[in-house]
Amino acid sequence: MLGLFIVILASCCTASADVSCGYHSCNLGEAEKLNVHLVPHTHDDVGWLKTVDQYYYGSNSSIVIAGVQYILDSVIPQLLSDPSKRFIYVEIAFFSRWWEEQNDAMKENVKQLVQEGRLEFILGGWCMNDEASTHYNAIIDQMTHGLRYLNDTFGACARPRVAWQIDPFGHSREQASLFAQMGFDGLFFGRLDYEDKENREKIRNMEEIWRGSQSLTSPHADLFTGVDENGYNPPDGFCFDAFCRDQPIMDNPALEDYNVEEKVDKFVAAALKQANHFQTNHIMMTMGSDFEYSNSNVWYKNLDKLIKYVNAADKNMTLFYSTPSCYLYALNHANVMWNIKKDDFFPYADAPHQYWTGYFTSRPGLKGYVRESNKYLQVMCQSHKNLQPLQVYSYDGQLSFTWIRDAMGVAQHHDAVSGTSKQHVANDYAKRLYEGFDACSVSSREECNKVISTALTGNNEQLIFCDYLNITLCDLTQSSNQFVVMVYNPLARGVSKYLRIPVKINFYLIILNKFAQQLVPVSEATLSVRRNRGSANCELVFLAKLPALGHNTFQVTKHKTSKTVSLLKTKVEKVINQDVTITNEFYKVKFDGNTGLMASIENIASGITVPVKQDMLWYNASMGNDENINSHTGAYIFRPNVSTPFQCSNGKPQLSIFKGSNLLVQEVYQKFSDWVWQVIRLYAGKKQIEVEWTVGPIPVQDKWGKEIISRYETNLETNGYFYTDSNGREILERRKDYRPTWHLNQSESVAGNYYPVNSRIYIHDNQVQLTVLNDRSQGGSSLSTGQLELMIHRRLLGEDSKGVGEALNETGQFGDGLISRGKHWLLLDTVTSSAKQHRLLAEEIYMSPLVAFQHHAPSTTHIGWKQRRYNYFFESHVTSPLPPNIHLLTLSTTTDGGYIVRVEHQFEKNEDSTLSKPATVSLKNLLTDFHVSSCEELLLGGNAFKQDVTRLNW
Ligand SMILES: *[C@@H]1O[C@H](CO)[C@@H](O)[C@H](O)[C@H]1NC(C)=O
Ligand SMILES: *[C@@H]1O[C@H](CO)[C@@H](O)[C@H](O)[C@H]1NC(C)=O
Ligand SMILES: *[C@@H]1O[C@H](CO)[C@@H](O)[C@H](O)[C@H]1NC(C)=O
Ligand SMILES: *[C@@H]1O[C@H](CO)[C@@H](O)[C@H](O)[C@H]1NC(C)=O
Ligand SMILES: [Zn+2]
Repeated sequence: MLGLFIVILASCCTASADVSCGYHSCNLGEAEKLNVHLVPHTHDDVGWLKTVDQYYYGSNSSIVIAGVQYILDSVIPQLLSDPSKRFIYVEIAFFSRWWEEQNDAMKENVKQLVQEGRLEFILGGWCMNDEASTHYNAIIDQMTHGLRYLNDTFGACARPRVAWQIDPFGHSREQASLFAQMGFDGLFFGRLDYEDKENREKIRNMEEIWRGSQSLTSPHADLFTGVDENGYNPPDGFCFDAFCRDQPIMDNPALEDYNVEEKVDKFVAAALKQANHFQTNHIMMTMGSDFEYSNSNVWYKNLDKLIKYVNAADKNMTLFYSTPSCYLYALNHANVMWNIKKDDFFPYADAPHQYWTGYFTSRPGLKGYVRESNKYLQVMCQSHKNLQPLQVYSYDGQLSFTWIRDAMGVAQHHDAVSGTSKQHVANDYAKRLYEGFDACSVSSREECNKVISTALTGNNEQLIFCDYLNITLCDLTQSSNQFVVMVYNPLARGVSKYLRIPVKINFYLIILNKFAQQLVPVSEATLSVRRNRGSANCELVFLAKLPALGHNTFQVTKHKTSKTVSLLKTKVEKVINQDVTITNEFYKVKFDGNTGLMASIENIASGITVPVKQDMLWYNASMGNDENINSHTGAYIFRPNVSTPFQCSNGKPQLSIFKGSNLLVQEVYQKFSDWVWQVIRLYAGKKQIEVEWTVGPIPVQDKWGKEIISRYETNLETNGYFYTDSNGREILERRKDYRPTWHLNQSESVAGNYYPVNSRIYIHDNQVQLTVLNDRSQGGSSLSTGQLELMIHRRLLGEDSKGVGEALNETGQFGDGLISRGKHWLLLDTVTSSAKQHRLLAEEIYMSPLVAFQHHAPSTTHIGWKQRRYNYFFESHVTSPLPPNIHLLTLSTTTDGGYIVRVEHQFEKNEDSTLSKPATVSLKNLLTDFHVSSCEELLLGGNAFKQDVTRLNW
């Protein structure tokens, strides 16, 4: 990607940065000594063992005693009473709640502390997001939400300089690139592979420059990156929280347990050991941990003593209160040539056999819903341009899209979308997203829906959303003889999408006339998922052509006619021991009657035919053994008991086939078992193969936890190489049993080769590439040449002892195991023409059109309304569509009536011979609805003007 830039369109003043804050308040220590930066901090998960609300108030303490409100209540007076003390705060989802509860005097005090750099915001996102299962769009939004809150509340002084990802379980390169573009000067984190860490300690390479992009020129995506010595904990023996067990410093020599010398010696030894792993005479110690500092006097009192006694002991070291940015600033002044890193920090293992690669797939339902909600948030923001300016930070719930923004912000947390929270917390995340989606229902749903409808379609008929179209549930469309389908396309280029609308057809009814359409019977798999719900017996399939950033509406009317019969004539046919083929103008997909499996794919235009065998398999989860009790599979850890998975089908899947009368869509159905189903589809005019999987309830009566994968085997000579995306953006090369920067001792031949797949994974030989795109984050790998696999669902009975304390044993609405349904899309083409296809398709997947329904057609008096019989309203909000290599990432209003627009080049350097080239967009004439009076470039996080920010030079 050649660039990611962002622009604000508003008449706005520029603020110059206040010089009394930021780096100017730093203590840089003494040149001749070892300088120990003590960083008091708390790590406050935005939901994990308890929900975000329970953590804030400190309720539900039978699970764990933790209350974020008390932490801030306790720390602020400590800071006010002693100017030498420092504290950092990270999660704005929590801080913003606390702030709203303070009186003016307290607010003034806190502002003062921020101005003086004594209370410093670090990272400043709504949460500390996961890096494996998040999409870059959602990362940018959640960071923006927090960073703009800080700027609005405290001004430029509060702008975080340091990104702080101390707990996420592995680190993506795209995240580094995004941080660099948000103006951060550095990143610190705590978790990396144990072998990588040992090696770095040995060669003093704990800190380096991370090159976050292979497309952006240095230093735009370069980020100074440091590993914390102790994760994010204090050195052994120095946890002084009220809930810690370490000895306090007892400094009255007359008393029995006097321990000053012992403590000083132990600390000095820890500091020297740490200094040995780092390059300069500065080291940073993280003095805090999960939810600590609720009684901060205990910490500060002991740290005061530690500082006093170590400094007095003349040990050639000086201790002081500091912050990560002051430590970073000190490093920036040291004269060191830092190494460059170009790969990423996946996968993460904290010990042999303990690969944190299960969470790439854990909770597929939640992961899918988070992705779906992202689309909804983008549409809401776009539609908002016709509404009054967004009251972004108000909690009154009035016609505010804050809800979905907050919910999405919280959902990106490293125990949320990652799937590593307790079940009741996962339910809470999903509920928040639902309420955000349904924000309108809070006060007056109908009113609000009308407003959205007006913004999107220009008519104020209420919009009706059907959340379960994926399983053919929609009250309106199944029962009504006339309704309107409204489809809104959030992309700034025109697209077409096949819609599938559940309808109930009695034998004499027919649907919209004069429009290519197909009635497809509701599948056996869908009926089994749907159970007793719904009455639709067909899906009405037709192609909706949609304008750039605009909508189209379709009227569906059922009437009596004799022609019905022909529409319904085509039925699903069982196939027994017979090869079958489906084909459209681009692909021919063959299935082998003997195995019941996909056998080959032919790309007709490219003349490529590749044997492709696809199967659904499962790994049995390791329950650990007596010597190594911790090596269970769990929500975080993936550890199959044996490396060869079992087949989901007992023998072979049952095949059936549907070829519609007009070949609009052809489908092959596979039933692998009562709990694993698949449909492979080819739509006319679509250059991709759609694979819809349905898995669950995963049976566990045999006491085996199961992890279900979809595996593709081809004859491509790939020699252990495969490719996965980083947060849905740039692509990284992966290689089996190999890490680019250290010699790997592989302890898990399957799990140790799994990587996050947010949007696509591919393999290729010299000529041909097989790409699989997905609709939610999953773990994936290529374990032997020509093969690739994605883990799509998992249900476990054991626990991996990483803290969550529950089996990942999700249940669905009916009390049995969770059923999950999702899609993969396959592309098979030459290597050179694949990038163009997967880039555009990935964009269409994650910002797919929003489908809603209305009872009636819009009023004919609406200006611009063009009457056509069955397709009568078609409107775009852009003057001309963007070129295919440019993606309109976000479009939203600001509180002062401006607009923030993010536009990105979505192709990597040299990825495509034409589309990778630079492109020019005129923002002035981009949107039809507004006039641009002035325009300024912002940092990616939208919290500062680009011209006001200079990043540190390394
Ligand atoms: C004191 O510490 C500094 C910085 O680590 C080091 O360069 C110096 O050699 C040390 N001096 C002594 C006497 O150990
Ligand atoms: C898993 O869930 C099922 C269904 O709710 C329940 O019967 C079973 O006891 C659970 N097993 C474990 C280990 O949690
Ligand atoms: C269908 O979609 C809804 C809404 O996104 C989701 O909650 C549900 O899990 C999906 N159903 C299946 C079987 O995946
Ligand atoms: C940040 O806050 C300052 C002070 O309130 C304001 O002048 C400036 O416009 C804000 N920056 C952005 C990008 O909104
Ligand atoms: Zn955490």
